[in-house]
This record gives sequence, structure tokens and C-alpha cells, in this order.
Amino acid sequence: MLKQQAGDGKRTSLHGNWSSRMAFILAVTGSAVGLGNNWKFPYIAGQNGGGAFVLVYLICVVAIGMPVMMSEILIGRRGRRNPVSTMELLGKEEGSSGKWRWVGSLSVLAGILILSYYSVIAGWTLAYVVKSAAGVFVGASSEMVESEFNAFVGSWQLVGFCHTLFMALAVFVVARGVERGLERAVKFMVPALLFLMLVLLGYSINSGHFGEGVSFMFTADWSRLTWGSVLAALGQAFFTLSIGMGAIMAYGAYLPEETSITGASAAVVTADTAIAILAGLAIFPLVFANGLNPADGPGLVFDTLPLAFGQMAGGMFFSTIFFVLLSFAAWTSAIGLMEPAVAWIVERLNRTRAEAALIIGGAIWVIGFGSVLSFNVLSDVKFLAGTIFDNVDYLTSNIMLPLGGLMITIFAGWVMCRNSTSDELGGSGGLYKAWRLLARYVAPIGILIVLFNAVS
Ligand code: PHE
Repeated sequence: MLKQQAGDGKRTSLHGNWSSRMAFILAVTGSAVGLGNNWKFPYIAGQNGGGAFVLVYLICVVAIGMPVMMSEILIGRRGRRNPVSTMELLGKEEGSSGKWRWVGSLSVLAGILILSYYSVIAGWTLAYVVKSAAGVFVGASSEMVESEFNAFVGSWQLVGFCHTLFMALAVFVVARGVERGLERAVKFMVPALLFLMLVLLGYSINSGHFGEGVSFMFTADWSRLTWGSVLAALGQAFFTLSIGMGAIMAYGAYLPEETSITGASAAVVTADTAIAILAGLAIFPLVFANGLNPADGPGLVFDTLPLAFGQMAGGMFFSTIFFVLLSFAAWTSAIGLMEPAVAWIVERLNRTRAEAALIIGGAIWVIGFGSVLSFNVLSDVKFLAGTIFDNVDYLTSNIMLPLGGLMITIFAGWVMCRNSTSDELGGSGGLYKAWRLLARYVAPIGILIVLFNAVS
């Protein structure tokens, strides 16, 4: 997927270029579509009361997510290095300072911390592939499905084993370089996942509680909306789009000159949002039909979907396929989470990709045990936002990603000169003006208002 490209006078990336516009869109979609859409979105929406949260999330995606994503791609493509070096280089080139590299460093750290818990949940999906294929959920009641989940996460050995397995898979692909295999996987995976979400949606519609699910998701009770849930919606928008932490910047570094950044961003944002909404529409009716609690937390998807599959004809098959696809989706996201750190080590410390992937993967694996133990041995250890898992999640999604996004839009909107950005975005027409307005004012001010009100 990455082609060496040289000799056109422009800066080139050490790691090569995407072979086509489609390859780039698929890679970014692969990074964006993951556990954030199918696992996190439903439970966060559930915990924050549904409707009003979903609307704020959608506003954040359009008004903040979209301009941040475009800014990251254009910065990445202009710098053509890892996020740390790119920010340093462009900071100097645009007449500001090399200190902008700290934004890159923050993103390397955010990727490592996010993957440390992401891998644990991805490990759950691996385990659920096996459980589904073994027919554990066939005809199961909601109590049975819930106790299966509790017994599983209660075992740190099992959860730790699955986390180890997932990290090994992630390191394996990153070590080999981002190549054909990944592109093919994504090409097949995103449509297949969409298809299965539609099957589930069809089932949900027939569950008899579809209306209840829809009104939970779309009826906004503004009185229940706190600044805390607005921040959760903002954090979720960043998390699900993979922005604010350099993953998209790193991918942008391998983007050919002629590709439209606006078009690619719009395609990715649309696909990612559609999958999240579909997941919500499939899950909430099932929650109400089975008397489950929408504010159940991280186990929500692992309780509702196996239950629904268990009642369906051919459910064993569909359930297995669903968790395989979800594992794939998590896998392609994990690669994006590691890419800033790995590219940085390769370029700065002169290591091979394989060495870099092992070093970073090893560190993430160790840190991940904080989250592995949060569901069993250390489940009573609570501080600030809750367990260790809750704290790593809160710190990264709700603080680090929005701060990263804030700095990135300030950089693209205020530090970079007009010529540089209009050059990358292809002209200075209406779309460019809209981007600039959002990147200079709407996104940074919006992020600051939310952060300020939620934290104070
Ligand atoms: N967007 C991914 C998801 O929704 C998570 C992710 C975040 C991936 C940041 C890469 C970078 O699952």
C-alpha cells in the first residue's frame, strides 16, 4: 500500500506513500471505525442519558471533528514525517518555534495510553469470537449472558491472556509495515460490518421496542445535559474519529499530493458517524426489550448483542462473524494508535520498524495490565474518575485528545500562513473559507468553553 516516491522536488516520506486515494481513505476509515463506534458510543450515550448527548456529539463531529481532521491531514502531508518531527519542522518553517513538537509528543503519549486499554477491550472481542463459535449464547437468557460476561472479566488471567494476544497481533502488522494485507482487510471489513449492523437493525426493529430505542437516542432532554456529558460527547467525537493524537497526521504524511483532503475527510467522517448511529439504533431497542439498563457501562454491547444473536435463527454464525469483524475493526484502529510512536522511533532513533513496534508494543502491553486488573483484582481501587481503566479513558479521551485538537487547529488556523494551508487544501474558495472559519474560531473556542466548564 505504501509506495516509495521520489524526485518530484517536494518533500517525501521515509515510509513511502499510499498507493491511491482509495487506499488512504480506507486506512483512515479503518483507523476511525473501531470499538469507539460499536462498543463505546452506545454505552457512553447510555450513561449520559441518550438524546441530548447524541445531538451534542453530532454537532461536535461536524463543527469540531471535521476541521480538526482536515488540519491534521494537511499538517501531516506538508511535514511528511512523524508527528513530533512534523510539528517541529513546520513550527520553524512557518516562523514560529520548534517547540510545537510538544504537540507531537503529547500525541505519541496519548496513542500509547489509549491502546493500553483499547487492547484489553479488543481482547474481550477476541474471546467473544470463541464463545460465539462454541454456541455459548444459543438460546441464552439475559441473566445467563450477563453472568457469562461477569465471570469472564472477573478472571484477570483470561482477560490478560486476550490482551496479550491482541497486542501480539497489533505488533505483528505494524512490524511488517502498513501494506496490502491491511488495505484488503479494510476494504472487506467496513462494508461487511455495515451489512451485519443492518441485519442487527432489522432484528431490533422487530424486537417490539424499536420506538423506545429511537426516542431514547433522539429525544433530547436538555435539562439532563451537564457540562460533564458535553465533555464526554466532545471526547467521544475525537476518539471515534481518531483525531487529536497524531494518528491521522501520521497517515497524512503518506498521502499523495493531488488527493483532496476535504473529500477524503468528508467520506471518513460520514462512514464513521453512520456506523455509530447504526450501532446505537441496533442496540438500544434490544436493551429495552430485555429489561437491561442503558447506563450499564463497558459491558453493554457484550450483554445485548450475544443475547439478540442467541435468539436469532443462524445466530451462532452471525454472532461469530460479528465479533470477528469487530476484532478486525479494533485491529486496524490499533495500528493507527501505534503509528505516531513507531514512526517517531524509526525516524529519530534509527531503529527498524520491527524493533520500534516491539518496543512500543511491549510498553503498551505492560501499561495495559492496569486496565486488565480494573475489572477484577483492582475493581475496588477507585479514585478521580473511577478505576484505573476509567481514569486512563477519561484522561485520554476527555483531556488529551481535545487539548491535542485545540493545539492542532490553532497551529493550522493561526500559525500556518494562508498560502500554506490553501495550497494543501486546494484553493481558497468557499470550502476553504469554511474550514478556516471553523479551524480558527469555532473549533478552538468550542473546545476551550467545554473544557473550561467541565473541569471547573
Ligand atoms: N477511532 C478508533 C475507534 O473508534 C479509536 C482510535 C482513536 C484509533 C485514536 C486511532 C486513534 O475505535
